[in-house]
Amino acid sequence: MPASDHIKIARIVRVNHAGEFSAIRIYAAQILVSSIFWKPVAAELQDLRSHEVTHCDLFRSAMPDRQSRPCRTMSLWGRGGWLLDLLTALLGPKAIWTCTEIVEDRVHHHLSAQLRYLAKRDEPLHDLIASIQAEEEGHLSLARQHVGKHSTFSRMLAAPITAAVEAVIWLSTWDGSARMNRDLSGAGA
Ligand SMILES: [Fe+2]
Ligand SMILES: [Fe+2]
Repeated sequence: MPASDHIKIARIVRVNHAGEFSAIRIYAAQILVSSIFWKPVAAELQDLRSHEVTHCDLFRSAMPDRQSRPCRTMSLWGRGGWLLDLLTALLGPKAIWTCTEIVEDRVHHHLSAQLRYLAKRDEPLHDLIASIQAEEEGHLSLARQHVGKHSTFSRMLAAPITAAVEAVIWLSTWDGSARMNRDLSGAGA
């Protein structure tokens, strides 16, 4: 395998690890707010957060074999995610699930592109990501169930939340996520 593929694979693991780290903080902020105002929502979110902790650990343990290290700007990613969701959670359960839907939808797209790339390049990582993606799909469909039909309110929230999520992703991986997307769109399957 060419050296450039090793670099791309190391970047995939780093960006995914940072993403899971951020997801843990995002859910922590939502749990903090909903445990005060909307307790049943907090219980559901607790479950999702526990999956993200496992995903984060799995990507961390996939790093050494791929000469990958945690993202240096990861704490910024985590803080950005925490603040984003603290603010949206204060708007109520509908906003919490709208934000969750947007975040999980982004995750789903990233993972699908990675799976196509990794299929013939790193089978163990491909299989790990496929199993994680199955759980992320569960998060996405749960969020979609709660959001239900998109209302004017959820549509109004979608644009600023999407922009904030993209900004947090870009900033916290210091362009690593954008470079990963360029890597994957330019690479054959
Ligand atoms: Fe995850
Ligand atoms: Fe998730």
